[in-house]
Amino acid sequence: MQAQPVIVIHGGCGGFEGGHASYTEYGQHLRPIVESAHAVLMDKGARAAVLTAVMALEDDPLFNAGTGAKLQADGEARLSAALIDSASKIFSGVINIRRVRHPIEVAERLSHQQNHVLSGQQAQQFARQQGMADYDPVVAHRRVEYEQQLAGRHGTVGAVAVDRNGMLCAGTSTGGVGREYPGRVGDSPTIAGTYASATAAVSCTGTGEEIVNLAVAPRIVDRVDNGLALGLATAHIEEQARELGYQFGLISVDQQGHYSIAATEGIVTLYAVYQNGRVGCFIE
Ligand code: GLY
Repeated sequence: MQAQPVIVIHGGCGGFEGGHASYTEYGQHLRPIVESAHAVLMDKGARAAVLTAVMALEDDPLFNAGTGAKLQADGEARLSAALIDSASKIFSGVINIRRVRHPIEVAERLSHQQNHVLSGQQAQQFARQQGMADYDPVVAHRRVEYEQQLAGRHGTVGAVAVDRNGMLCAGTSTGGVGREYPGRVGDSPTIAGTYASATAAVSCTGTGEEIVNLAVAPRIVDRVDNGLALGLATAHIEEQARELGYQFGLISVDQQGHYSIAATEGIVTLYAVYQNGRVGCFIE
């Protein structure tokens, strides 16, 4: 069956903790990113589109990933990202890497290596071996946030896409939650927060510990693999999260080009969709 190509991106769910911009401004930042990623989707497919979107989100200081990442308790920005697509079926990721511009690019390079996930100093070493230059992702508003002890609980960017050949891809990148114990690992660079199969792709945002507890992304994907509609699969997880009082959001697509967004109570997920010549920016 021919898929209806679609790309969905998210700018996290904690955009307002630091009060850096309004909903409208977040939409203005998301729109050109989803538009250029959609052009790549039509030309080069889902994986290239997801990489384009996540790298652009990492470059935008408004979002908590790459440039503009939050700082951990010791005042350092440590970045995590992951990528997976239905063709390679390889999950690759980078955990708590410092001083790189595009953590998702490190994850991409790792997918071609024997070892697919690296962390900390060794991940940084790998990035330098790959020719990635030293880069300081810390911006002034995050330093102020850190100094004012504004410890957020959320923040992440991500993208999911399906191309006309039915190939699916998910990518996620984050600066963590802010003021966390140095070295803490959330959901984004694990399959709990970033996962895809031949039938569905999911990228999560929100409280990493809770997303990991529920194994959110693989449980949605597994249900779709077993024939459940994507909307019902995300609704089931959303319901379980509500019962537990968990706080997170997610974006997902299936092989036919349906997409589904979820957000638990008290959470605002900022996202943008491009499908069938139509683009929109929304909050859920
Ligand atoms: N969802 C991002 C994190 O918990 O690190």
